[in-house]
Amino acid sequence: MYSISFLMSATPLYKSSSILKNPKPEAQFTVRHSNKENPIMEKCKSFLVFPLLINVLCLFLLPQPILSNELNEFTRQPPRRVIFTTHDRSESDPQQVHISLVGQDHVKVSWITEDKHAPSTVEYGTVSGEYSEKARGHHTSYQYFLYSSAKIHHVSIGPLEPSTTYFYRCGGSGPEFSFKTPPADLPIEFVVVGDLGQTEWTASTLKHADSEDYDVFLLPGDLSYADTHQPLWDSFGRFVEPYASRRPWMVTEGNHEIESFPTTYPNSFTAFNARWPMPFKESGSTSNLYYSFEVAGAHILMLGSYTDFGVDSDQYEWLQADLARVDRSKTPWLIALLHAPWYNTNTAHQGEGEGMRRAMEDLLYNARVDLVFAGHVHAYERFTRIYNNKPDPCGPMYVTIGDGGNREGLALKFKNPASPLSVYREPSFGHGRLRIANETDAHWSWHRNNDADAVEADNLWIHSLSSSRECWNPSRDEL
Ligand SMILES: [Fe+2]
Repeated sequence: MYSISFLMSATPLYKSSSILKNPKPEAQFTVRHSNKENPIMEKCKSFLVFPLLINVLCLFLLPQPILSNELNEFTRQPPRRVIFTTHDRSESDPQQVHISLVGQDHVKVSWITEDKHAPSTVEYGTVSGEYSEKARGHHTSYQYFLYSSAKIHHVSIGPLEPSTTYFYRCGGSGPEFSFKTPPADLPIEFVVVGDLGQTEWTASTLKHADSEDYDVFLLPGDLSYADTHQPLWDSFGRFVEPYASRRPWMVTEGNHEIESFPTTYPNSFTAFNARWPMPFKESGSTSNLYYSFEVAGAHILMLGSYTDFGVDSDQYEWLQADLARVDRSKTPWLIALLHAPWYNTNTAHQGEGEGMRRAMEDLLYNARVDLVFAGHVHAYERFTRIYNNKPDPCGPMYVTIGDGGNREGLALKFKNPASPLSVYREPSFGHGRLRIANETDAHWSWHRNNDADAVEADNLWIHSLSSSRECWNPSRDEL
C-alpha cells in the first residue's frame, strides 16, 4: 500500500464531517441549508485543499459545524459517503486499469503497479485467455509533496477492429480484462457524466449508466475529488476500474484537477496529466488540457476551462486549426465538452465560464457545433440552441451535467424567474446518454438517480446542424 495511506484512513476528516452522514434519499429535495458565507469556513476550505497535516489541523482547531454542509458556499443536496477503494491485488498486479481512444483504431491501456519492475506491456486478443498480440509502452510516476506515485503504465494497442470485444492482460500478470471497441460508423452511444467523484451517489450513477450498453464515456471535468490527497486518486482509479477498463473514458479537466499552490507547488494538473493522458498530440494540441478526437460520425472537442483560452492563446489557435480540419461529410456531428458552463441559471458558479464564452463562442458558433456539455455546476440543466445569449437555431444546444455524484452534493438553487433559454433544470444526481442514430438525428436523455433506480427525466431528439441548409447559407450575417 502507499506509504501515507494509513494516514488517510486514520484521518477523521471525512468520517467525522457531517457531509458523510448517510442522508435518507427522501430528504434530497426537502433539506435546505443556510447560504450564508462564513469567513472562517472560507479559510478552512482553502486549507481543505492543502495536504494532509493542514487538514488535520483544520479539523481539530475548528468546531465541527464549520466543516458541515450547513455553512457551505452553495446550497447542496445532502451528499453521500466517500467510498475509499482499497487495493487487494499483489504488488505486481495491475490496478486502476482504464482505457482511452487513440486515433481511429488504437486504444491506450493505462494502469498502475506498486512493483517498480513490472513491465509496461499489454497482451491482447479476441479470444479470452489467448493473446495473439503484444504491445509495449512507457511508464511514468510523479511526486506530490510527501506522496510518491506508484509506477503508472501507458500502452497503446492496435490496430483494432471496430465493434469488437478484446481480452487483455497488463504487465503479464493479474486478472484478464476486456473491452469493446466503438463502431466505425453511426450509430454510436455516449454516456456523459461530469463532476463524478467517488461516493455512494457516484456508484449509483455508474451502475445506472452501465445498465444499458454504450460505446464511449465522456467526462467534462472533475474526476476524483482527490483535492490534493493523492491516495484518493488511487482510490478513484480502483473505484472506476470495473467501468473504465471496459469502455473508453475520454476526459477533460475541471478545477478539482488543478492541485497547485503558488509557491510550494506551482505545477498544475500533475496527477491528472500523469494518470489520465488523453490523445492530445494526435489532434495537434500541445497540452493534455485540450484536444479533439473522432469516433464513428462525431468530432469531439475536449476544451480546457483552466488553461489559457484568449484569442492569443495556444488553445484558441489550436481550436481554430482543429475546427478548420473538421469534415462534416465524414463527421456530421460536432460536439464540445468543457468544465465551467457558458450558460448557467443556477446560483452556483455564476459567470465563471463567461470569459471563455466571450473568447470562444464565435468559433463554436461559426463551426456549427451541435452540442456543448459542461460540468462544474452540480445539477442538470438543458438549454435551447443559443448564440450570444439569444436563442439561435444555428447555435449549439447547451447542457450542464455536473451531477455525477461527488462529495460536495448538489447545487439546489436556480435563479428565478427562469430564463427562456433554459428548457429543463433540476438539481438531482444522474447521467446523460447521447445516442447518435445517423447523420441527421440523435437522441439525448438525462436519467435521474432515483435512489436505486434510474428514471429518464428529460429527453429529446435533435437534428445535426450539418444537415441544416439554413445554417450554412452564406447570406447569414455570422458567416
Ligand atoms: Fe468543478
